[in-house]
Amino acid sequence: MENVNSSTKSYPIPRIGEPAPQFKAITTQGDINFPSDYKGKWVILFSHPADFTPVCTSEFMTFASMEEEFKALNTELVGLSVDGLYSHIAWLRTIKEKIQYKGMKNIEVKFPLIEDITMEVANLYGMVQPGESNTKAVRAVFFIDPKGIIRTIIYYPLSLGRNFDEIKRVLIGLQTVDEFKVALPADWRPGDDVIVPTAGSCGQAKDRLEIPEEGVTCYDWFFCTKKLEKEKIEKA
Ligand code: BEZ
Repeated sequence: MENVNSSTKSYPIPRIGEPAPQFKAITTQGDINFPSDYKGKWVILFSHPADFTPVCTSEFMTFASMEEEFKALNTELVGLSVDGLYSHIAWLRTIKEKIQYKGMKNIEVKFPLIEDITMEVANLYGMVQPGESNTKAVRAVFFIDPKGIIRTIIYYPLSLGRNFDEIKRVLIGLQTVDEFKVALPADWRPGDDVIVPTAGSCGQAKDRLEIPEEGVTCYDWFFCTKKLEKEKIEKA
């Protein structure tokens, strides 16, 4: 891996469509080799600013309470902060033993939390954004597909906790795009109409004097949708 220890160096941010940068790391669940250990699975790699802080605690409890939902979607969670392993272990133990929040209690974080005191991984993934903080990672969320390709990136600032409905919606959306070869409109949720590729049904609709394929609704020649039942998505 490139030497990324200098505090004055600026780092390229990985981009959508690129392979997830590789690294080896120590985590609360043992060593990992990323992303190769996760081949064949989706991964949500996310950073948080610091252990023993309130927004991060609320997020970790939420991620951990949703872990089975993500596993059911062939997806593993991997967290990271620039704290050390013993801080991570102590914080996760405190969460399990002491924190009750919004009906969540006795929450065990079973997914790996990367220690990154050197900030090597955080810098590799553009998680340190100096305008926000030089010493902490922002709240980054990388969606990485089973081939190790970055498919979506979301960044939040230090003071704003993530929206977990949106994180799950993005994941299901990406899987739906891949499985059904469609695009998804604004605010799409499973069960809503999906967009059929313009070069296909819509193009044909235009050629055939605006008569779309059966089951396809066209708003104009470039914008056609069709139904995609929620049950079909859940079975895929
Ligand atoms: C928090 O998780 O509460 C937090 C962490 C760093 C800066 C601000 C808030």
